[in-house]
Amino acid sequence: MIGDANHMTLLIVGAGGLGREVAATALALGNWNEIAFVDDNATEPVNGLSIWGDVADLSTAEGHYEVMIAIGNPSLKRSIHERLKKNEKLTFPTIVHPNARIHWPEYVHLGNGTYIADGTIITTNVRIGDFVLINLGCTVGHDTTIGDYSCIMPSANISGGATLEEEVYIGTGAKLIKATKLGRGCVVGAGAVVNIDIPINETWGGVPAKPLK
Ligand SMILES: CC(C)(COP(=O)(O)OP(=O)(O)OC[C@H]1O[C@@H](n2cnc3c(N)ncnc32)[C@H](O)[C@@H]1OP(=O)(O)O)[C@@H](O)C(=O)NCCC(=O)NCCS
Repeated sequence: MIGDANHMTLLIVGAGGLGREVAATALALGNWNEIAFVDDNATEPVNGLSIWGDVADLSTAEGHYEVMIAIGNPSLKRSIHERLKKNEKLTFPTIVHPNARIHWPEYVHLGNGTYIADGTIITTNVRIGDFVLINLGCTVGHDTTIGDYSCIMPSANISGGATLEEEVYIGTGAKLIKATKLGRGCVVGAGAVVNIDIPINETWGGVPAKPLK
Protein backbone atom coordinates (compact mmCIF):
# COMPACT_ATOMS: atom_id res chain seq x y z
CA MET A 1 0.00 0.00 0.00
CA ILE A 2 1.36 3.42 -0.92
CA GLY A 3 0.89 6.77 0.74
CA ASP A 4 0.84 7.92 4.32
CA ALA A 5 0.14 11.07 6.29
CA ASN A 6 3.43 12.64 5.26
CA HIS A 7 3.12 12.22 1.52
CA MET A 8 0.18 13.56 -0.37
CA THR A 9 -1.36 10.78 -2.42
CA LEU A 10 -4.19 11.18 -4.92
CA LEU A 11 -6.48 8.18 -5.19
CA ILE A 12 -8.72 8.19 -8.28
CA VAL A 13 -11.88 6.14 -7.85
CA GLY A 14 -12.49 4.38 -11.15
CA ALA A 15 -9.72 3.11 -13.40
CA GLY A 16 -11.81 3.34 -16.57
CA GLY A 17 -11.47 5.87 -19.35
CA LEU A 18 -12.49 8.88 -17.28
CA GLY A 19 -10.21 7.78 -14.44
CA ARG A 20 -7.25 7.57 -16.82
CA GLU A 21 -8.08 11.03 -18.16
CA VAL A 22 -8.16 12.40 -14.62
CA ALA A 23 -4.83 10.67 -13.94
CA ALA A 24 -3.29 12.31 -17.01
CA THR A 25 -4.45 15.71 -15.73
CA ALA A 26 -3.11 14.99 -12.26
CA LEU A 27 0.27 13.98 -13.71
CA ALA A 28 0.33 17.20 -15.78
CA LEU A 29 -0.41 19.28 -12.66
CA GLY A 30 2.30 17.52 -10.67
CA ASN A 31 0.70 18.26 -7.29
CA TRP A 32 0.90 14.73 -5.84
CA ASN A 33 3.76 12.49 -4.80
CA GLU A 34 1.78 9.38 -5.64
CA ILE A 35 -1.23 8.72 -7.85
CA ALA A 36 -3.11 5.41 -7.82
CA PHE A 37 -6.54 4.02 -8.64
CA VAL A 38 -9.29 2.63 -6.46
CA ASP A 39 -11.44 0.16 -8.35
CA ASP A 40 -13.78 -2.67 -7.37
CA ASN A 41 -13.02 -4.67 -10.52
CA ALA A 42 -9.31 -4.20 -11.23
CA THR A 43 -6.19 -5.47 -9.49
CA GLU A 44 -3.42 -5.06 -12.08
CA PRO A 45 -1.73 -1.68 -12.69
CA VAL A 46 -3.43 0.58 -15.23
CA ASN A 47 -1.20 2.78 -17.42
CA GLY A 48 1.57 2.11 -14.94
CA LEU A 49 -0.45 3.29 -11.93
CA SER A 50 -1.22 0.75 -9.24
CA ILE A 51 -4.63 -0.28 -7.93
CA TRP A 52 -4.55 0.81 -4.29
CA GLY A 53 -7.65 -1.18 -3.32
CA ASP A 54 -11.41 -1.02 -3.65
CA VAL A 55 -14.05 1.40 -2.39
CA ALA A 56 -14.61 -0.64 0.77
CA ASP A 57 -10.88 -0.44 1.57
CA LEU A 58 -10.93 3.32 1.07
CA SER A 59 -13.99 3.84 3.27
CA THR A 60 -12.01 2.42 6.21
CA ALA A 61 -8.51 3.63 5.25
CA GLU A 62 -6.33 4.87 8.10
CA GLY A 63 -4.18 7.27 6.05
CA HIS A 64 -4.94 10.77 4.84
CA TYR A 65 -5.67 10.65 1.14
CA GLU A 66 -6.95 13.04 -1.46
CA VAL A 67 -9.69 11.40 -3.50
CA MET A 68 -11.23 12.16 -6.90
CA ILE A 69 -14.29 10.13 -7.85
CA ALA A 70 -13.90 9.66 -11.62
CA ILE A 71 -17.38 8.34 -12.38
CA GLY A 72 -19.56 9.89 -15.09
CA ASN A 73 -22.89 8.69 -13.69
CA PRO A 74 -24.34 11.23 -11.22
CA SER A 75 -26.26 8.84 -8.97
CA LEU A 76 -23.40 6.32 -8.83
CA LYS A 77 -20.96 9.08 -8.02
CA ARG A 78 -23.23 10.27 -5.23
CA SER A 79 -23.56 6.78 -3.76
CA ILE A 80 -19.77 6.32 -3.73
CA HIS A 81 -19.34 9.69 -2.05
CA GLU A 82 -21.98 8.75 0.56
CA ARG A 83 -19.81 5.75 1.47
CA LEU A 84 -16.52 7.63 1.50
CA LYS A 85 -17.59 10.75 3.37
CA LYS A 86 -17.91 8.73 6.60
CA ASN A 87 -14.12 8.49 6.58
CA GLU A 88 -13.08 11.90 7.87
CA LYS A 89 -9.45 11.35 6.88
CA LEU A 90 -10.33 11.62 3.20
CA THR A 91 -10.41 14.97 1.42
CA PHE A 92 -11.80 15.72 -2.00
CA PRO A 93 -9.76 18.23 -4.01
CA THR A 94 -10.99 20.32 -6.91
CA ILE A 95 -8.96 19.47 -10.02
CA VAL A 96 -8.80 21.81 -12.99
CA HIS A 97 -6.83 20.88 -16.11
CA PRO A 98 -4.11 23.48 -16.82
CA ASN A 99 -5.68 24.19 -20.23
CA ALA A 100 -9.15 24.86 -18.87
CA ARG A 101 -9.92 28.58 -18.76
CA ILE A 102 -11.77 30.39 -16.03
CA HIS A 103 -12.17 33.97 -17.15
CA TRP A 104 -12.81 35.68 -13.80
CA PRO A 105 -11.86 33.27 -11.04
CA GLU A 106 -12.94 35.58 -8.21
CA TYR A 107 -16.49 35.19 -9.48
CA VAL A 108 -16.45 31.48 -10.20
CA HIS A 109 -17.04 28.98 -7.41
CA LEU A 110 -15.87 25.41 -7.90
CA GLY A 111 -16.92 22.90 -5.26
CA ASN A 112 -14.96 20.12 -3.60
CA GLY A 113 -14.39 16.97 -5.61
CA THR A 114 -15.16 18.76 -8.87
CA TYR A 115 -13.16 18.05 -12.04
CA ILE A 116 -12.82 20.47 -14.96
CA ALA A 117 -11.26 18.91 -18.08
CA ASP A 118 -8.98 20.23 -20.81
CA GLY A 119 -10.40 22.93 -23.08
CA THR A 120 -13.41 23.86 -20.98
CA ILE A 121 -14.18 27.56 -20.65
CA ILE A 122 -16.10 28.99 -17.68
CA THR A 123 -16.71 32.74 -17.82
CA THR A 124 -17.93 34.64 -14.77
CA ASN A 125 -20.50 34.60 -11.96
CA VAL A 126 -20.78 30.84 -12.15
CA ARG A 127 -21.39 28.52 -9.23
CA ILE A 128 -20.41 24.89 -9.71
CA GLY A 129 -21.24 22.57 -6.84
CA ASP A 130 -19.44 19.60 -5.28
CA PHE A 131 -18.45 16.46 -7.23
CA VAL A 132 -19.33 17.96 -10.60
CA LEU A 133 -17.68 16.74 -13.80
CA ILE A 134 -17.28 19.17 -16.68
CA ASN A 135 -15.65 17.14 -19.41
CA LEU A 136 -13.51 18.15 -22.41
CA GLY A 137 -14.20 21.32 -24.34
CA CYS A 138 -17.40 22.55 -22.70
CA THR A 139 -18.50 26.15 -22.29
CA VAL A 140 -20.31 27.46 -19.22
CA GLY A 141 -21.70 30.97 -19.59
CA HIS A 142 -22.25 33.74 -17.06
CA ASP A 143 -24.67 33.48 -14.13
CA THR A 144 -25.01 29.71 -14.37
CA THR A 145 -25.44 27.33 -11.45
CA ILE A 146 -24.57 23.64 -11.68
CA GLY A 147 -25.70 21.41 -8.85
CA ASP A 148 -23.75 18.74 -6.95
CA TYR A 149 -22.85 15.48 -8.74
CA SER A 150 -23.89 16.77 -12.16
CA CYS A 151 -21.93 15.43 -15.16
CA ILE A 152 -21.47 17.48 -18.32
CA MET A 153 -20.06 15.47 -21.22
CA PRO A 154 -17.61 16.71 -23.88
CA SER A 155 -18.39 19.72 -26.07
CA ALA A 156 -21.61 20.65 -24.29
CA ASN A 157 -22.51 24.34 -24.26
CA ILE A 158 -24.34 25.83 -21.30
CA SER A 159 -25.69 29.29 -22.08
CA GLY A 160 -25.67 32.12 -19.57
CA GLY A 161 -28.21 32.05 -16.77
CA ALA A 162 -28.86 28.31 -16.79
CA THR A 163 -29.70 26.43 -13.59
CA LEU A 164 -28.89 22.76 -13.30
CA GLU A 165 -30.10 21.15 -10.11
CA GLU A 166 -28.26 18.21 -8.52
CA GLU A 167 -27.38 15.03 -10.44
CA VAL A 168 -28.12 16.38 -13.90
CA TYR A 169 -26.47 14.57 -16.85
CA ILE A 170 -25.79 16.47 -20.08
CA GLY A 171 -24.76 14.30 -23.06
CA THR A 172 -21.97 15.00 -25.51
CA GLY A 173 -22.47 18.06 -27.69
CA ALA A 174 -25.78 19.08 -26.15
CA LYS A 175 -26.59 22.77 -26.04
CA LEU A 176 -28.67 24.81 -23.65
CA ILE A 177 -29.54 27.80 -25.79
CA LYS A 178 -31.49 29.79 -23.22
CA ALA A 179 -31.42 30.40 -19.47
CA THR A 180 -33.22 27.13 -18.86
CA LYS A 181 -33.74 25.25 -15.58
CA LEU A 182 -32.99 21.53 -15.54
CA GLY A 183 -34.57 19.62 -12.71
CA ARG A 184 -32.76 17.29 -10.36
CA GLY A 185 -31.70 14.01 -11.92
CA CYS A 186 -32.74 14.86 -15.46
CA VAL A 187 -30.82 13.60 -18.50
CA VAL A 188 -30.18 15.51 -21.73
CA GLY A 189 -29.24 13.23 -24.62
CA ALA A 190 -26.17 13.71 -26.77
CA GLY A 191 -26.62 16.40 -29.41
CA ALA A 192 -29.82 17.83 -27.95
CA VAL A 193 -30.73 21.49 -28.20
CA VAL A 194 -32.58 22.55 -25.06
CA ASN A 195 -34.74 25.69 -25.23
CA ILE A 196 -37.21 25.03 -22.42
CA ASP A 197 -37.09 23.91 -18.76
CA ILE A 198 -36.87 20.14 -18.12
CA PRO A 199 -38.69 18.63 -15.10
CA ILE A 200 -36.91 16.47 -12.54
CA ASN A 201 -35.83 12.93 -13.47
CA GLU A 202 -36.90 13.20 -17.13
CA THR A 203 -34.79 12.19 -20.15
CA TRP A 204 -34.96 14.53 -23.11
CA GLY A 205 -33.24 14.57 -26.49
CA GLY A 206 -33.41 15.86 -30.04
CA VAL A 207 -33.56 19.27 -31.71
CA PRO A 208 -35.37 20.97 -30.14
CA ALA A 209 -35.26 18.66 -27.12
CA LYS A 210 -38.43 16.75 -26.24
CA PRO A 211 -39.08 13.95 -23.77
CA LEU A 212 -37.69 10.64 -25.08
CA LYS A 213 -40.21 7.83 -24.88
C1 LIG B 1 -30.40 9.97 -24.08
C2 LIG B 1 -29.77 8.66 -23.66
C3 LIG B 1 -29.29 8.74 -22.20
C4 LIG B 1 -30.84 7.59 -23.78
O1 LIG B 1 -30.29 6.34 -23.52
P1 LIG B 1 -31.27 5.08 -23.31
O2 LIG B 1 -32.17 5.34 -22.14
O3 LIG B 1 -30.42 3.87 -23.28
O4 LIG B 1 -32.22 5.14 -24.57
P2 LIG B 1 -32.21 4.27 -25.91
O5 LIG B 1 -30.85 4.21 -26.52
O6 LIG B 1 -32.91 2.98 -25.62
O7 LIG B 1 -33.12 5.16 -26.87
C5 LIG B 1 -34.48 5.41 -26.56
C6 LIG B 1 -35.04 6.22 -27.72
O8 LIG B 1 -34.46 7.55 -27.67
C7 LIG B 1 -33.74 7.80 -28.88
N1 LIG B 1 -32.51 8.51 -28.50
C8 LIG B 1 -31.53 8.04 -27.71
N2 LIG B 1 -30.58 8.97 -27.55
C9 LIG B 1 -30.98 10.04 -28.25
C10 LIG B 1 -30.42 11.31 -28.45
N3 LIG B 1 -29.23 11.65 -27.89
N4 LIG B 1 -31.08 12.20 -29.20
C11 LIG B 1 -32.28 11.86 -29.77
N5 LIG B 1 -32.87 10.66 -29.60
C12 LIG B 1 -32.22 9.76 -28.84
C13 LIG B 1 -33.45 6.44 -29.49
O9 LIG B 1 -33.29 6.54 -30.88
C14 LIG B 1 -34.68 5.68 -29.09
O10 LIG B 1 -35.74 6.03 -29.96
P3 LIG B 1 -36.82 4.95 -30.47
O11 LIG B 1 -37.52 4.47 -29.22
O12 LIG B 1 -37.70 5.73 -31.36
O13 LIG B 1 -36.05 3.88 -31.13
C15 LIG B 1 -28.53 8.30 -24.51
O14 LIG B 1 -28.89 7.89 -25.81
C16 LIG B 1 -27.55 9.44 -24.65
O15 LIG B 1 -27.66 10.35 -25.50
N6 LIG B 1 -26.52 9.39 -23.76
C17 LIG B 1 -25.45 10.33 -23.73
C18 LIG B 1 -24.17 9.68 -24.24
C19 LIG B 1 -22.98 10.56 -24.02
O16 LIG B 1 -23.02 11.75 -24.17
N7 LIG B 1 -21.88 9.93 -23.62
C20 LIG B 1 -20.70 10.66 -23.26
C21 LIG B 1 -19.50 9.78 -23.35
S1 LIG B 1 -18.05 10.68 -22.88
